[in-house]
Amino acid sequence: MSSTLFTPYTIKNVTFPNRIVMSPMCMYSCEAEDGKATNFHYTHYTSRAIGGTGLIITEAAAVTQQGRISPQDLGIWGDEHIEGLKKIVQLSKEQGAKVGIQLAHAGRKAVLDGPIIAPSAIPFSEDRKTPEEMTTDQIKETIHAFKEGARRADEAGFDVIELHGAHGYLMNEFLSPLTNKRTDEYGGSKENRYRFLREVINEVKEVWNGPLFVRISADEYNEEGNTIDDFIYFAKEMKEQGIDLVDCSTGGVVPATIDAYPGYQVTHAERIKKEANIPTGAVGLITHPLQAEEIIHNDRADLVLLARELLRDPYWARTAASELGAELKAPKQYERGWN
Ligand SMILES: Cc1cc2nc3c(=O)[nH]c(=O)nc-3n(C[C@H](O)[C@H](O)[C@H](O)COP(=O)(O)O)c2cc1C
Repeated sequence: MSSTLFTPYTIKNVTFPNRIVMSPMCMYSCEAEDGKATNFHYTHYTSRAIGGTGLIITEAAAVTQQGRISPQDLGIWGDEHIEGLKKIVQLSKEQGAKVGIQLAHAGRKAVLDGPIIAPSAIPFSEDRKTPEEMTTDQIKETIHAFKEGARRADEAGFDVIELHGAHGYLMNEFLSPLTNKRTDEYGGSKENRYRFLREVINEVKEVWNGPLFVRISADEYNEEGNTIDDFIYFAKEMKEQGIDLVDCSTGGVVPATIDAYPGYQVTHAERIKKEANIPTGAVGLITHPLQAEEIIHNDRADLVLLARELLRDPYWARTAASELGAELKAPKQYERGWN
């Protein structure tokens, strides 16, 4: 068998050396609460790059201060963040990885002092703060903040931008009928619930020509929530707008019990890929090389994203290449101990 997991993949002008992606993971490590990258970030991401990961998508970076999940989140709301982000990008690129950034706004899931905002004034749970319903001006300002975030990401040298439309954060809150009860043009029908994301994509594309991904929660685990058919509709709209890949996660919109088993979200990536005819990324309990190989080889998704397994083993790509008999070039300094 020749491995497809280790074949390159090109989107626009960017070629990923293999299909293995580090899934975005908040590290809550900006101890100074200023959103700036720290030494921890430099070590953390570079370790996965030297381990052979094809694409690293850095953790959710907040496009506004109020859009952080916690005070320690990574930020991209000011030009002062560019320098640290640039260093993350340079260090990982030196080791052969491509680097993406996830642009995010936490909406009602922000755990911060002061007011928080969301499409509707409904808290995530009883013990969480009730958000303020966004005014039209706040909606426009937030869309602009995503555009500014994209401009800064471009200046920092990222190869990919991923918009965080999953896990019940702001963009997801607009998409879901569970969290969006607005009566204006941003709420109601699915066309209207998509409007916020549509406008974010349009604005981002004004300043960003590179690969653009959107992460979605393709299952809301609630019978009144969006269904997979709704997400096929949204994915078709995304494709129309020039989105390059839909990264298919699930959950986080409302509290729910999730039955997580190996590859539990892969069927969503597969269905969206086939039915909306758009490249997808599969994520969620993908831990074994053969499992990842199966997903790519059967064309169920174009990329596989690993989160926790890459925390355990930053050299997972090397481990997988060795198990699959695929070639993964060693960093020059490691040649004597790679295979
Ligand atoms: C510590 C940690 C932080 C995470 N932070 C983010 C994040 O910033 N953005 C995001 O989209 N998903 C985030 N996730 C979800 C992961 O990207 C991934 O979708 C999920 O963990 C399932 O993949 P896994 O089974 O390979 O861990 C996080 C997960 C973990 C474990």
